[in-house]
Amino acid sequence: MNMNDIIVKKRDGGKLSEAEIKWFVSGYAAGEIPDYQASALLMAIYFQKMDKAETFMLTDAMRYSGDTVDLSGIEGIKVDKHSTGGVGDKTTLVCAPLAAACGVPIAKMSGRGLGFTGGTVDKLESIPGFRTTLEPAAFLQQVNEAGIAVIGQTAHITPADKKIYALRDVTGTVENLSLIASSIMSKKLAAGSDAIVLDVKCGSGAFMEQQKEAEELAARMCEIGQAAGKKTVAVVTDMSQPLGCAVGNSLEVKEAIETLKGCGPSDITTLSLKLAGLMIYLGGKAKSAAEGEQMAEQALYNGAALEKLRTLIARQGGDPAVTEDTALLPQAAFSQEITALETGFVTAIDARTIGLASQHTGAGRASKEDEVDLSAGIVLQRKVGDKVEKGDVLMRIYANDQTKLSAASREAEAAFVIGTQKPQQNVLMKEILGL
Ligand code: URA
Repeated sequence: MNMNDIIVKKRDGGKLSEAEIKWFVSGYAAGEIPDYQASALLMAIYFQKMDKAETFMLTDAMRYSGDTVDLSGIEGIKVDKHSTGGVGDKTTLVCAPLAAACGVPIAKMSGRGLGFTGGTVDKLESIPGFRTTLEPAAFLQQVNEAGIAVIGQTAHITPADKKIYALRDVTGTVENLSLIASSIMSKKLAAGSDAIVLDVKCGSGAFMEQQKEAEELAARMCEIGQAAGKKTVAVVTDMSQPLGCAVGNSLEVKEAIETLKGCGPSDITTLSLKLAGLMIYLGGKAKSAAEGEQMAEQALYNGAALEKLRTLIARQGGDPAVTEDTALLPQAAFSQEITALETGFVTAIDARTIGLASQHTGAGRASKEDEVDLSAGIVLQRKVGDKVEKGDVLMRIYANDQTKLSAASREAEAAFVIGTQKPQQNVLMKEILGL
């Protein structure tokens, strides 16, 4: 096989065969195909697209490019949950303990984030002592005994995706439906769960800004999951403004704890209950998603889910006292308040602008080698639709460096739009696919 022929075929709108896709994926992962040819093929895919069959074959080739996780040693239906990423998205920290408290075994591998904040693993590492690596046997044992374990994805899972994603990141080829769907689903399928709940974000803080594109991505990922024999459900949810109020690693852990105590922001509470309800249903513990949601609500208000989070933290070496005293989480040295310049209603809080400002406080990574600052970030004091008086605090910015604090504050200020009319709220849950 010849890489040049494959590039030309895709450049001219042809369909790649299974053999060609496998040859490219294994050759690139093995270092036998140079970056310049892989980049050319990715750009050809970006413009010419892949059909469903090609997307499935690409997913499958990446899924089996490294180790796959065998969760058969865990009793029950294992359900995974994935978000395509957004600003302030700490739902895993809430819905994983909710589902676990309702009897769904949670054996979760999560990633570190690139961009606005860290990923779930970074967020958990802001809890003093929390370890995000466990040997495979200890991982399975913890899920069987405690019902929940959350660890970082090992280097040996989907190495081809890792290499291809890193190349896409620097060649302008991230935002392609088939490439995103296959990248995410290859990791989910390799991680071994029986069922998958996907939260596909749409809006300025997401990969897919338009609802139609997000729905297409959701549909494509559901098809891949189902074709691989896994029950897969996707929800399309709003990411035009940040989710909840906190953006940043320890700040988001604090908000997740408050949410599990029943006093979190309403959007994060509603969405986490909805996602947990789907997980509980797919995990066979409820007869419908609605019944699953009711069970999740009970686990929230009777404290069982908070207790699960405490168990998770304690089992992985963290200090469970953070759930009683969130001041034990890392705190930034400096903070700055941003106040309203006029009276009116908050009509928009641009998620992308807040996300980038949060990244510039130090809370996120620009490249995968960067360290994240676990205590930096932003906490919104107002959300879209709220009334504000001139001088009211709109948000607080946290950093450990005065220069970063000033730059991020100037940047974040531009995210808020204040108008005279109360705006219509964007719908949080836009669509459910695969139920
Ligand atoms: N997340 C991934 O893992 N891959 C993508 O391509 C986009 C988001």
